[in-house]
Amino acid sequence: MPELTEETADLAPVAAGEPILEIRGLVKHFPLTQGILIKRQIGAVKAVDGVDFTLHQGETLGIVGESGCGKSTVAKLLVNLERPTAGEIFYKGEDISRLSGRALRSVRRNIQMVFQDPYTSLNPRMTVGDIIGEPYEIHPEVAPKGSRRRRVQELLDVVGLNPEYINRYPHQFSGGQRQRIGIARGLALRPEVIVADEPVSALDVSVQAQVINLMERLQDEFSLSYLFIAHDLSIVRHISDRVGVMYLGRIVEIGSDIQIYEHPTHPYTQALLSAVPVPDPDAREGRERIILTGDVPSPANPPSGCRFRTRCWKAQEKCAQEEPLLTVPSLFRGSGEPTDHPSACHFAEEKLIVPAEGADGRTTGDHEHGHADRPPPREPGRTNYPPGPQPGLPGAGPDIT
Ligand SMILES: Nc1ncnc2c1ncn2[C@@H]1O[C@H](COP(=O)(O)OP(=O)(O)O)[C@@H](O)[C@H]1O
Ligand code: SF4
Ligand SMILES: [Mg+2]
Repeated sequence: MPELTEETADLAPVAAGEPILEIRGLVKHFPLTQGILIKRQIGAVKAVDGVDFTLHQGETLGIVGESGCGKSTVAKLLVNLERPTAGEIFYKGEDISRLSGRALRSVRRNIQMVFQDPYTSLNPRMTVGDIIGEPYEIHPEVAPKGSRRRRVQELLDVVGLNPEYINRYPHQFSGGQRQRIGIARGLALRPEVIVADEPVSALDVSVQAQVINLMERLQDEFSLSYLFIAHDLSIVRHISDRVGVMYLGRIVEIGSDIQIYEHPTHPYTQALLSAVPVPDPDAREGRERIILTGDVPSPANPPSGCRFRTRCWKAQEKCAQEEPLLTVPSLFRGSGEPTDHPSACHFAEEKLIVPAEGADGRTTGDHEHGHADRPPPREPGRTNYPPGPQPGLPGAGPDIT
């Protein structure tokens, strides 16, 4: 594959639905060392241990999983805050995982990150104008010095903040406003991909809705592709076209939102979904709760075979000996049913956890369930988050919290 250079890095835009990021066999091991003067490696934390997925132009791929399963490490690898131990990251078909210097800077411009905690990710001693405009110091070609103030004010306006706030400091803003500042900084270099690592987890529920709605509006406005990481399954479902479920450094199931939420075939996904609160009392009553026993094993010493086997109620001998691969289980392969999606389980089977939407009890998955590795067609016009009328919850307007 040809080396990515400064010239080739700014590749032509990809068509809607084409792969923009392809992750293959991504691994990140953090060495565990012992000794003070002479450090000896005694093992490794296998934070990410063989992750594959594709992000398509214009889609949102959600990543869910319990704390410590490697979500943030995946995010950092994608924006080059960490270097992979092994594996490749293709951006528009070019491997960017081992670039350096100018070629790396040029590619990184196109893949930006929005961080979880708007309270700690903004430098308290910098004005909002300096924070949002900081990326222009590294990429002056995007906004020459004379135009920066105007560009930053435009960005403030785009994220629903008053452009006159440009000289204020982070402590003068609320949590939701700070996350808007974080998003404006993420947009400053006009990226094509935004990696959002738990962008609303630190915010109040009503403010979460506003930030989610803002992110959806910006995605349409700027043709962005999102990797959206969260542990809240309801939020991930709302914003995502497809969802990948992570456990101990691996993706265990991936598919369209309907495939994952209404037709999960992996026991871990089923357990996660069974813990999601359901507002409708009737639906709540008929639902099976799966209680997982035991703690998540240490990523320094994951179980043999299937990593989930120490907590899985279906585990058998084979699970300890053979590692299940992330492929479509043969039982479902080619069926065209919503269960026809990759699931890393030797004994994958469907289990209805979340009652399907629709008054007549029909599953919404019988139609339009999309394909596991392609984004389903986006419905015309987005619905706001949370779905349904939300008095007092403006979308992404300037009246903010
Ligand atoms: N820099 C690091 N050094 C050593 N271990 C790390 C480092 N960063 C993350 N880890 C470990 O890797 C695992 C995955 O962490 P992380 O990616 O932050 O998970 P998540 O975002 O899903 O909570 C955890 O066990 C964490 O302690
Ligand atoms: S492979 Fe075995 S242990 Fe792993 S999820 Fe499937 S049934 Fe459970
Ligand atoms: Mg994290």
